[in-house]
Amino acid sequence: MSAILVVDDVPAMAEQYAYDLKRVGGYDALVAHSGREALDLLEREVVDCVILDLEMPGMDGFEVLRAMQRRGFQVPVLVYTGTGNYARCTEAIRLGARSFIDKAEPMERVVQEVEHALEQQRLTGQLAVLRDRLESEAPLVGASPAMQHLKDAIGRVAKIPSPVLVVGESGSGKELVARELHRRGATPTGPFIALNAAAIPENLVEDELFGHERGAFTGAATLRTGAFEAASGGTLFLDEIGELPLAAQAKLLRVIEQRQITRLGGNRTVAVSARVVAATNRDLEAEVRAGRFREDVYYRLNVHVVRVPALRERLSDVPALVEHLLASTCARFGVRPKTVDPGALDCLMRYDWTRNNVRELRNVVERMIIATDSEAIGVEDIPADIREGAGPQRTPTGTVPSTFQALKAEAERQIIVAALEQNNWHITRTAQALGLADHASLLKIMRRHNISRG
Ligand SMILES: Nc1ncnc2c1ncn2[C@@H]1O[C@H](COP(=O)(O)OP(=O)(O)OP(=O)(O)O)[C@@H](O)[C@H]1O
Ligand SMILES: [Mg+2]
Repeated sequence: MSAILVVDDVPAMAEQYAYDLKRVGGYDALVAHSGREALDLLEREVVDCVILDLEMPGMDGFEVLRAMQRRGFQVPVLVYTGTGNYARCTEAIRLGARSFIDKAEPMERVVQEVEHALEQQRLTGQLAVLRDRLESEAPLVGASPAMQHLKDAIGRVAKIPSPVLVVGESGSGKELVARELHRRGATPTGPFIALNAAAIPENLVEDELFGHERGAFTGAATLRTGAFEAASGGTLFLDEIGELPLAAQAKLLRVIEQRQITRLGGNRTVAVSARVVAATNRDLEAEVRAGRFREDVYYRLNVHVVRVPALRERLSDVPALVEHLLASTCARFGVRPKTVDPGALDCLMRYDWTRNNVRELRNVVERMIIATDSEAIGVEDIPADIREGAGPQRTPTGTVPSTFQALKAEAERQIIVAALEQNNWHITRTAQALGLADHASLLKIMRRHNISRG
């Protein structure tokens, strides 16, 4: 329900307006009898629209508008006046008022104006979301079986309102998956708010999550809404959930179950409709055993788990990823698009990327773009540590193998990796698919080629 603040020095006028706004528009209405009181209320309450009298003793409507501008209040203001002096109204618009109404106008008209202002505000918010999305729009690249599996999993849980836990190694794309869950979710035009529990000082986490009432603690001069309220009607992405302090975990659980929050230093509850997506690269079960993560929270989050595969489990995606990263990085750097020659690509496909997965690949691509002046990136442009870490099957120069033995070995390696990916790295199933005697034979070949899931 939207909350409208009516500011008028004549109490009867203000009360009448508030009453009519409730009756005709179905709004929550607040009343302030002076400019000071209005600013005070704006600092303490969540207000969606202000109806402001221009003529008031002491601090008049113009002063209020100026003060609102100075303090950065974004809430739309409709000014009203009984004087019919339109020059004054124009002046108010110049100071940031959305529009003006005459005190003599029927309430239906006023409600129409309010609705218009609220709608405009909503659109502004959506525009910001869309602009944000255009900028951060990053497709989930990859068509490997592991990636297909991931996309299916996303599709299955995207639309449900329950919390989802995204797990995967560092740099594997968890945040991208969270954004994809939002995009394919029930409220894609709603906000996507990300909060990284590891990046916030422990004593500020609850403030960031739940906000505070004015005066909740020293320095809390104004009401501040937290991430849960900001994400209302959209998604709240809780990154590095394993780092959340235990006390905040307890509160989080209560919010998820009751779908309402209490701001710090207050006792009124606010309904929240944010869908929670949490992510971690930690083993939460181990964290629970170690007493660092609450078991009840773990079980609540563990209902819908989306596992993001490590890059070494989907090496067949490396070419597509490299192409995508090359294009976007070259565009970002403002350099001519470059290509990667097959030998270099082959080398990148033999590396295990255990340190940082796709993020590591992204950084390597960036370094390669900088390292070469030519159009095509070759093996010699690959950072030495990657080239040397690229597994034992490499020919001395790291180029495409040329002897029959080397070609055969390379083909065998590729067949095995492809089959493993196809079967989700299930050893027995892969061995069967390849027509091998048993899983031990497959393991032996894998050892020979130094293939492992990690
Ligand atoms: N499938 C993918 N397609 C395209 N880009 C990807 C993919 N996966 C990851 N990336 C890119 O790799 C980088 C790391 O991804 P992201 O930040 O989502 O990883 P993360 O799992 O959240 O990492 P961390 O554990 O460090 O928080 C980002 O630049 C992201 O755009
Ligand atoms: Mg992340």
